[in-house]
Amino acid sequence: MNQTTQNVYLALLNQKEKAISGEKIAEMLGLSRAAIWKSIQELKREGYQIESIKGHGYLLKTSDVINSEAIKGDFTKDNQIENIFVLEETTSTQEEAKHAFAQNLTNHSLFITKSQTIGRGRFNRAYYSEENKGIYMSLAIKPEITFQEMPQYTILTAVAVVEAIKKLTHIQTQIKWVNDIFLDGKKIAGILSEATANMETGQINQIIIGIGLNFSIQQTQFPKEIQNKATSLFADSTPTITKNQLIAEIWNQFFSLISTDFISKYKEYSLVLGRNVSFTKNGQEFFGQAIDITTTGELVVQLDSKDTMTLSSGEISLTKY
Ligand code: BTN
Repeated sequence: MNQTTQNVYLALLNQKEKAISGEKIAEMLGLSRAAIWKSIQELKREGYQIESIKGHGYLLKTSDVINSEAIKGDFTKDNQIENIFVLEETTSTQEEAKHAFAQNLTNHSLFITKSQTIGRGRFNRAYYSEENKGIYMSLAIKPEITFQEMPQYTILTAVAVVEAIKKLTHIQTQIKWVNDIFLDGKKIAGILSEATANMETGQINQIIIGIGLNFSIQQTQFPKEIQNKATSLFADSTPTITKNQLIAEIWNQFFSLISTDFISKYKEYSLVLGRNVSFTKNGQEFFGQAIDITTTGELVVQLDSKDTMTLSSGEISLTKY
């Protein structure tokens, strides 16, 4: 969206659901009415619902189009995001963040896209995305800390997603160790945190936290292979919030939780604690019960053999027996 259209959007947004005439916007922005009309058409093409009311002008209705100004408008003072880049389509927002690191990236930059062509999850698995029906974003952080000093970003982000959903919708989701958010036994979101270190100083200098969240993908729209495993926040109901609101709230929660004991919340929302689980390590399959999550986010499993095992990475399955 060009600057003129962005300004027209802001003029409409500032009316807070009241109509404003094209003439008034033109006067405010020092532009011609034809330029305003052109921008209104562009906004409509992008999916904004704008009604033309005779004698009153243009009325911006609640439109679920990802927009950086709308997101920033909901940021709290704790939120440290400095820049938001909204892309119509990209390969992967993780890649966008990586490219930005190669240039002169400003700290705490958020990359969001409406559609990803090669989104990926943990273990390099493909991550399914559906245009405008999901939230696909990556936060790039430029810290100067050692590996030991690094906060448990995946754990923190998982708690932030659960808290944000709960605050805005009263829907209670759960966390499947380590990075999946579940609703009604199916995955609605995944988190991918990546960090790189400077070999000379040993400091972590790049962190990218990616979140993929199925917002309003209908249940039947998921590919057959994941129909039984995945769902959306609003799979079969009309969304009660916008994606912009949820994006802002996730990062508000992230920055306000960072200095708190978020591990206790992670444990509270855990889908796996107390449940029977199985996992594979060095080619061998293990069965047991998930009994704890440590302060550093590791999962403690009491094996059927009565030994305990502490897992710091990998994947577990919930077993029914
Ligand atoms: C997982 O489920 O294993 C993690 C999924 C992470 C997906 C998000 S979508 C935005 C960002 N871009 C990507 O390519 N991946 C992450």
